[in-house]
Amino acid sequence: MDFQLTEEQIAIQQAAREFAQKELLPGVIERDEHQKFPAEQIKKLGELGFLGIMVDPQYGGAGMDTVSYVLAMEELSKVDASASVVISVNNSLVCWGLEEFGNEAQKQKYLVPLASGQVHGAFLLSEPEAGSDATSQRTTAIDKGDYYLMNGTKNWITNGNSATYYLVIAQTDVEKGHKGINAFIVEKNSPGITIGNKENKMGIRGSDTHSVMFQDVKVPKENRIGEDGFGFKFAMKVLAGGRIGIAAQALGIASGAYELSLKYAKERKAFGTEIMNHQAIQFKLADMATEIEAARLLIMKAAYLKDKHEDYAIASSMAKVFASEVAMKTTTEAVQIHGGYGYVKEYHVERLMRDAKITQIYEGTSEVQRIVIGRSILK
Ligand code: CAA
Repeated sequence: MDFQLTEEQIAIQQAAREFAQKELLPGVIERDEHQKFPAEQIKKLGELGFLGIMVDPQYGGAGMDTVSYVLAMEELSKVDASASVVISVNNSLVCWGLEEFGNEAQKQKYLVPLASGQVHGAFLLSEPEAGSDATSQRTTAIDKGDYYLMNGTKNWITNGNSATYYLVIAQTDVEKGHKGINAFIVEKNSPGITIGNKENKMGIRGSDTHSVMFQDVKVPKENRIGEDGFGFKFAMKVLAGGRIGIAAQALGIASGAYELSLKYAKERKAFGTEIMNHQAIQFKLADMATEIEAARLLIMKAAYLKDKHEDYAIASSMAKVFASEVAMKTTTEAVQIHGGYGYVKEYHVERLMRDAKITQIYEGTSEVQRIVIGRSILK
């Protein structure tokens, strides 16, 4: 494994860093406070190619590798995880799912606008009674000849209102359990779709999280992805890649909090000297730096395996479970280093601490990651 980044990878890292400082930082506190979706910023990110980083240019993407995607995710997430989650869901779940498993007509019709940043998408798996237990889908899509008739409710959907296209996981044959699940491309403006209120969340408050209800929605036959019954495997494969994106988001949240802490420790004085001169603070900073580096290496290994077309499911679960725990620990310590200032909004670290928590929950809880890892090492 080569630890040296290529010129192209350094360029996207730099571009993401500059974008985050110039376009995401101004207003990030207000967007969090008022739960405002960063629509303008996502539009610009789309124009710059960040919505389809890994997609082949023939389908409107930037044609870069997973390592580049991780670098971009880290930089954007240092500043605004509400914006970076849109990048993660669109790249890892929606675009990758379509590029890898969609047919040519589906790619032309849906992947091109999604990857070129004209629109963005959402991935609808979770339900009121099917979060971690993803096989227990209650949403049904019944084969009616020319179309599938979809009914059910999806919960906690990132981009639920702002997305133009949905990838929906639904049960087509209850008798067959997870082998009777399919994945569908559904246009959000289809008759019969209602969007619930925006969730009032603890963190990533700018992101657009809604429930989505389907009542007798007609989904064209040609919008099923892959062979009949492929939907659960589709979801598992897509989520394995998605976990690399969320791990990179956790890494960004952690490294953002660490960088702010380092700066603060060099400026803030207590007991007659800058607080960086106190060993209590040095130990915290040393642990943060070490754990962030370990998380980065796990994530890069998963990205490297994916780019080499090797099995990366376990590596991505390991990366996500570790990086999300590092994010929680680092942001909590960042608030501690900032003392009273850390507990108020202007210093950003309290937001990063609230944002960190979701990385242990979405795209598979830390418990689910341990199930995946545990099964693999015990089989
Ligand atoms: N690749 C391919 N196939 C896979 C796979 C993978 N990575 N993982 C599992 N499968 C296959 C299995 O081989 C099995 O197939 P066979 O029956 O043919 O052998 C089938 O899928 C069922 O697998 P399991 O028996 O392991 O299924 P399970 O019910 O025990 O569940 C689980 C396993 C890992 C807990 C799974 O349910 C899971 O990942 N749950 C978490 C769901 C999740 O991540 N939700 C996130 C929602 S999306 C989101 O958050 C997006 C957002 O908005 C940000």
